[in-house]
Amino acid sequence: MKEFARKQREENRIFGLVPTMGALHAGHLSLIKQARQQCSSVVASIFVNPTQFGPSEDFAKYPRTLSSDIEKLESAVVHYLFLPEAKDIYPQNYSTYVNVDGLSERLEGRIRPGHFRGVSTVVMKLLQIVQPQFAYFGRKDAQQAAIISRMAKDLNLDAEMVTCPIEREPDGLAMSSRNVYLNPSDRQSATVLHRTLQAAQLLLQNGTRDALSLQSAMHRVLKEEPRAKVDYAEIVDAQTFEPLTHINRKAYVLIAAKFGETRLLDNMLVDFSAGGQLTSEL
Ligand code: PAJ
Repeated sequence: MKEFARKQREENRIFGLVPTMGALHAGHLSLIKQARQQCSSVVASIFVNPTQFGPSEDFAKYPRTLSSDIEKLESAVVHYLFLPEAKDIYPQNYSTYVNVDGLSERLEGRIRPGHFRGVSTVVMKLLQIVQPQFAYFGRKDAQQAAIISRMAKDLNLDAEMVTCPIEREPDGLAMSSRNVYLNPSDRQSATVLHRTLQAAQLLLQNGTRDALSLQSAMHRVLKEEPRAKVDYAEIVDAQTFEPLTHINRKAYVLIAAKFGETRLLDNMLVDFSAGGQLTSEL
């Protein structure tokens, strides 16, 4: 892969990387679409990265659908698929890890200790191997995207990290490889995440800036769905992921909840235009 990437660079091709763990859906394909618009060669990687799964998490049963993934990549016209094996990424005596301190310990990091260390390490390795000019990540995993952008800045990486919008099902549920775990009742209940964000969006549009009021309103909507076991509903600064009390800068409204055994994430990006006008993106 390294040799191949070097040759591509010699031909002055603009190289884009879309890292995934497979079980591809329209969310992944939207990253590929964006990559195709900016790059002359697009590499997708599929690697279910063991180091980002906790000991009691779903590494063994994570959906692996390689042949249909390949079909999807072919129709999306991905030029190359990088499909490394665990023994190549983490050979015997592997001992080097990347950790983005602070950011990696909050929210998702608090609930999944070590998760982001595994993510930053594997993304760093993929960037080192492929050496792309651009790499694409989804805002669906907003904290992951922020951590990777921080890592790229802190470690002076040449590649530019691009964050892409959330792709949703027609009823608003954010697409995720883990949605296949949901039974029909939980699948139905999971739409509460999007409804909660819509309620928060309406309050923001009507002038609410107090994070606590927004949070209580969100919890009220979430309570209407008893199947949802909420981990958090928080409003944080978009760069640091520190909680905000007053919403007056770029922020994320984040929700994480479990439906049965399946943990789902969703979020809304809040920003202010040059004129101070609030904008929000679901
Ligand atoms: P995975 O869950 O396969 O997701 C790969 C990429 O697709 C991530 O950047 C994720 O944010 C993005 N994505 C997932 N659902 C999306 C949606 N509904 N809309 C837009 N983008 C979406 O995230 C990972 O894999 C791994 O942690 C990885 C970065 C590959 C490192 O192992």
